Amino acid sequence: MQVGIFQTQEAAADYAAAHIIDVVGGATDPVLGVATGSTPLKLYERLRAAHAAGTFTLAGKKAIALDEYVGIADDHPERYRNVLRTELVGEDKTGLTDELLFTPDSSAPDPQAAAARYDEQIRALGGATIQILGIGSDGHIAFNEPGGSLVSRTHVDVLTAQTRTDNARFFDGDLAKVPTESISQGLGTIMEAKEIILLAFGEGKARAVKELVEGAVSAKWPATVLQMHPKVTVLVDEAAASQLELADFYTERWNARH
Ligand code: PGA
Repeated sequence: MQVGIFQTQEAAADYAAAHIIDVVGGATDPVLGVATGSTPLKLYERLRAAHAAGTFTLAGKKAIALDEYVGIADDHPERYRNVLRTELVGEDKTGLTDELLFTPDSSAPDPQAAAARYDEQIRALGGATIQILGIGSDGHIAFNEPGGSLVSRTHVDVLTAQTRTDNARFFDGDLAKVPTESISQGLGTIMEAKEIILLAFGEGKARAVKELVEGAVSAKWPATVLQMHPKVTVLVDEAAASQLELADFYTERWNARH
């Protein structure tokens, strides 16, 4: 795992965007793994700017989402397919087209079957060339909540009270409006991405980042499974890095490589 500790979120987003532009630009038929939540928003802003400047495009390229709420209205702005449309789809965004954006089916009558279909779809696409990830304050990645299998495939998961509280800000601050279930890529599915870039900002993520980087691999902190992946970059600001015991060492190693 490489750990980049940046003074600001903006600097981390600059690095992440430049790296993604390199990887996506250099790959044949790339598949970009995209995340939702507030963490990647500055990164997406930079990808849109690069598209506007003519130095990057997702036109003709595929993007796969990590997860989706179950049972959310098709036109709800927080439906992840709609969030990703708003951020990335269209010539005025990154050039990504709606038909090449893959997301789990939020309105399927049988969500478990929809999850299995989505897993098949990801396999058929060959998995993500590079996967963008955030991390929950409880250590989840996508909606893989604590206590799940470390080798799970795409599945229906019940959201923890912590995650629903964290996400209530997207639903008028009203916990009752936050969906209770999601379809999420499994940890085993995410681990098949060829490369992973995880971003985490703010004090609220400090404990999860400490466990991710320095904790024992454990279902209690699902993100720790990433320690078993050969190509992961963790990009954090100083607040999110504040509980790392070996921060100075990571920075020394990072500076030697960049
Ligand atoms: P956030 O969510 O980016 O909104 O903090 C991250 C996550 O829950 O995975």
